Amino acid sequence: MQSTLCCLAIVAVSLVAATNFDFTGAVKCESDSRWCFTVRGIEVDLISDDELVKYDKCQTGEKIVKFTMVGVDDDDGLLDNNFEIALQVTHNCSSSHEKIVTSDYNSVPVKEVAYAMSKNFDLNTNQVVPEIPLVRKIKD
Ligand SMILES: *[C@@H]1O[C@H](CO)[C@@H](O)[C@H](O)[C@H]1NC(C)=O
Repeated sequence: MQSTLCCLAIVAVSLVAATNFDFTGAVKCESDSRWCFTVRGIEVDLISDDELVKYDKCQTGEKIVKFTMVGVDDDDGLLDNNFEIALQVTHNCSSSHEKIVTSDYNSVPVKEVAYAMSKNFDLNTNQVVPEIPLVRKIKD
């Protein structure tokens, strides 16, 4: 009886130890040339951020690229009951040197089994934006 209780407890702990993160969003770049980006799902850490998952792509010209990716994180055991989760994009949209933009982080309880985060990035202004209009503006 006692050994059964022991093993059930271990199974329960390992089931809550990992959290699945569903990252979605879009990046937009207005450019006449070739540009590349990498979007990362990260756990913000005092010492160094942990990369959970990444997606990269290159495009030519003005484009909106949607992304979907799944990352998993385990309890980091740093006496913190939350993951600090953010999306970060490095890119060279309309710039010859690499630029970086990081969203605000969300605190996610480590006991969560799944968590979804969606962010959109305007790479020309290097900012997180609430939404990206899918209709191209008519130029004067
Ligand atoms: C961005 O990087 C890619 C790959 O290194 C390169 O081919 C492209 O020319 C770069 N674009 C700009 C605007 O510098």
